[in-house]
Amino acid sequence: MHLPLGDQRSGRFYGKDILSVSQFSRDDLEYVFGVAEAMRTMVRHVGTFDLLKGKILANLFYEPSTRTQSSFMAAMQRLGGSVIPISEVRYSSVSKGESLPDTVRTLECYADVIVLRHHEEGAAAQAAAAAKKPIINAGDGPGEHPTQALLDLFTIREELGTLDGLTVTMLGDLKFGRTVHSLSRLCSLFDVKLRFVSPPQLEMPEKVTKELTARGVAFSKHAKLEDVLAQTDVLYVTRVQKERFEDLALYESLKHAFVVTPAVMAKAKPKMALMHPLPRVGEIEPSVDDDPRAAYFRQMECGLYVRMALLAMVLGKA
Ligand code: ASP
Ligand code: CP
Repeated sequence: MHLPLGDQRSGRFYGKDILSVSQFSRDDLEYVFGVAEAMRTMVRHVGTFDLLKGKILANLFYEPSTRTQSSFMAAMQRLGGSVIPISEVRYSSVSKGESLPDTVRTLECYADVIVLRHHEEGAAAQAAAAAKKPIINAGDGPGEHPTQALLDLFTIREELGTLDGLTVTMLGDLKFGRTVHSLSRLCSLFDVKLRFVSPPQLEMPEKVTKELTARGVAFSKHAKLEDVLAQTDVLYVTRVQKERFEDLALYESLKHAFVVTPAVMAKAKPKMALMHPLPRVGEIEPSVDDDPRAAYFRQMECGLYVRMALLAMVLGKA
């Protein structure tokens, strides 16, 4: 077994920020996925190992998180490194008014890499402009969530074997959902058909659809899931992003616009991957969880291996 791990300071991601999926070529993805597979093998065989011994990650979260925060933490610890967790900026000097550039300049004095989640689009790029150490974007407002999209693609590959030739349907809040902004851009590297199903108020932003058009991606917009369900290979469900609404009455009227139930699954392909970045708040009924096509819990586990791969790569060890 060849594990692509060890000193790779000439590696293509060594010392780099990960801000957007636009940084990745198809070749890069194969590389990330290869390293993620090696990480999975190591975790299953030995659990924890010392590839990043002595390295420190600062986890800086201005917004709530369960998965991203804990999987980056677990990833660093499984690689033998350690973590400075700032998961509640209220208790940090941010609450005294410290700026984002000053906060990251502080943390890079102590850490080798910073994972940042922030409520403003562009915050990760702003942090990267201030920092010398790598910044990994863990979600910037309604902008992007690149590490999520990488783990989503890794999951699709695991579930269905290939990405080429698939119809990927994204359902729900496509306006504010940063995961679908990243995932649809990343899908443009493959021969994929995209179907966007949402209420009219929550359509995929023009900024994203223009990029898809420029890259020659086949996509279409729909108001009803039934229009596309029978041809869908990956059904990617999203939460209506309550925290981005100014008008909460509008949120209330849209929050359950689409709910995946066993009856919906009965009309879907027998071989399909049902995915969700999570948390879900009613968009997929728990009664669907035992359906073999429900991939969202497996999807979370993939996040650990992909994030281990990314940390090792930016720190020159993969
Ligand atoms: N956890 C994902 C994100 O932070 C999806 C969501 O919150 O709905 O973007
Ligand atoms: N998928 C995701 O980013 O989950 P968290 O918001 O819990 O980190």
